[in-house]
Amino acid sequence: METVVSGIRPTGNLHLGNYFGAVKNFLKMQHDANCYFFVADYHSLTTHPHPDNLNASVKQVLAENLACGLNPEICTLYVQSDLPEVAELYLLLNMLAYTGELERSVTFKEKIRKDPNNVNAGLLTYPVLMAADILIHKAAKVPVGKDQEQHLEFTRNFAVRFNHLYGVEFFPQPVAYNFGVQLVKVPGLDGSGKMGKSEAEGNAVFLIDEHDTIKKKVMRAVTDSGPTEPNQPKPEAITNIFTLMKLVSSNDTVQHFEDAYNNCTIRYGDMKKQLAEDMNIFIAPIREKIKEISSDEKYISKVVREGAEKAHESARKTVQEVRNIIGMRSF
Ligand code: TYM
Repeated sequence: METVVSGIRPTGNLHLGNYFGAVKNFLKMQHDANCYFFVADYHSLTTHPHPDNLNASVKQVLAENLACGLNPEICTLYVQSDLPEVAELYLLLNMLAYTGELERSVTFKEKIRKDPNNVNAGLLTYPVLMAADILIHKAAKVPVGKDQEQHLEFTRNFAVRFNHLYGVEFFPQPVAYNFGVQLVKVPGLDGSGKMGKSEAEGNAVFLIDEHDTIKKKVMRAVTDSGPTEPNQPKPEAITNIFTLMKLVSSNDTVQHFEDAYNNCTIRYGDMKKQLAEDMNIFIAPIREKIKEISSDEKYISKVVREGAEKAHESARKTVQEVRNIIGMRSF
């Protein structure tokens, strides 16, 4: 059976970008593959979260993923730092990662531009840690959004380099996966870029957002004064609203507004009202489930305890084999 790995940083609540970029695909794969999903708490340390906040965020993200439908009976859900083997594999892979290539990472360049006072080594070697997460279970497929594509390229490079250096066919070459189609990039509500938790306030719609909040955010989404000629190409901000609508609304609804755009009768106020309603219909059952699960600490701790045990088995085996290949053998 094929192995699948994916993860999410505990740096805020899950939003529609996380859901449609990664979680949804993971849910579709969990029945047919050997699936691991983890909360990437080591990764979140690059921004030095307060210890109390980190713990609460890990719990919340676990609850939110469970509420989306991650089934701990059939997949393995765990917290990254419960597997110290990940840290060891990270150290070993660091020897194969060149600073020059890491400095060319798009995410790294973006992070140093946004926060030039915190360019730490963890940030630079972030792709190596991510490769360790994936290779520790020898995964073949990694359901992620478009923003993670380059990280998967790094993972393949480190895997190939390891195999080549030691003359083995040990690590697979994992791919960022979306059922044979383009990886997803869910736009935000601010007119450009992607939906993200660290973007401007109001850019992201979270799975815990109440109906009122969703309405407020969507009604404030950037639009323009509307098309002036039939069948004009759409500016980015308008394309984004349509992209979001395609995720949560019916085909008929999308077609209705496409037609209205093309014959210049569109009223963005109406379109946004409809979008907010459809987002709420999509989010409401997940939101209720999040409330239910996050108040059940016993359940969450049982899930991660069992998850860590299962994940350990595979992690321990990989690291033992890697040590053996490298020549770290017992006397
Ligand atoms: P993170 O926590 O930023 O996001 C979690 C997942 O959500 C996806 N995503 C999006 N997809 C489409 N459109 C968007 N607007 C959008 N925003 C977020 C991300 O692509 C991701 O799949 N480095 C990872 C976490 C990680 C990981 C891993 C993932 C660490 N190790 C190993 C897979 C395998 C991250 O920061 O994701």
